[in-house]
Amino acid sequence: MLNNIDINQMNRLMEENKDAKQIITQLLENHHTSVSMIAHEIRNPLTLVSSSLQIIEAQHPEVKEFHNWSQTMEDVRFMCDLLNELSSFNNSSTLHHSVFSIEKLLKNIAVSFAISLDAADSHIEFSSKIIPGMGDFTGDKIKLEEVFLNLLQNAKDAVGAEGRISLSAERRNDTIVICCQDNGCGISEDQIETIFDPFVTYKENGTGLGLSSAKRITEAHGGTIQAESSSESGTVFTVTLPV
Ligand SMILES: Nc1ncnc2c1ncn2[C@@H]1O[C@H](COP(=O)(O)OP(=O)(O)O)[C@@H](O)[C@H]1O
Ligand SMILES: [Mg+2]
Repeated sequence: MLNNIDINQMNRLMEENKDAKQIITQLLENHHTSVSMIAHEIRNPLTLVSSSLQIIEAQHPEVKEFHNWSQTMEDVRFMCDLLNELSSFNNSSTLHHSVFSIEKLLKNIAVSFAISLDAADSHIEFSSKIIPGMGDFTGDKIKLEEVFLNLLQNAKDAVGAEGRISLSAERRNDTIVICCQDNGCGISEDQIETIFDPFVTYKENGTGLGLSSAKRITEAHGGTIQAESSSESGTVFTVTLPV
């Protein structure tokens, strides 16, 4: 998989040489199609395996006693999540534009996230400050939602059982600036260099695709995403989107 340095180098080559641009564009299209096909071909049998395991568990609850059962269920769930994340990573640069209120989108995300914390009896303190007056926004609503949910999910993983997470957003001239801040474990200086690369994860059950998708989606909107972190105060991700 290409990392961000490779992608910058590839973009430079494409700018410098028309033939290289044509070949690289074709290769990227082939690569995109191959990943879609592989994900699709694996997803179908995996969905069947997952459904069968659930039926077995429902009809024979005693299987839960088998010492490898819960690990197997977890592994299958992980593979399903991985395939979903791989598909959204693969499609993250293809946008379906519509005009919508980003203020409303962020408020809905904040409400859903707060509800999910409540439902899980979490002690995490969550606050949001979405400043009105952002105006209409043109972009891919579903993909942007994915960006903010990824950031909130990472913040949740970082703070553990207790901690603070905040989501804030405001319009600054011709940009919308969204910050997701937490007071969690932070990211070390050497890790922060790599967190936006695909498949880079420092979690036991991570896929390493959340931030790479978030970066691709943000950049496809002409925006930027940055992380600042320290082990004392936690982490803040700032997404800037041009209006
Ligand atoms: N808010 C955060 N606090 C601390 N570390 C983070 C945070 N967000 C991301 N990270 C680090 O960046 C890595 C990559 O994140 P991501 O691409 O979402 O993949 P995953 O969550 O599957 O590991 C994580 O494994 C984690 O080490
Ligand atoms: Mg993640």
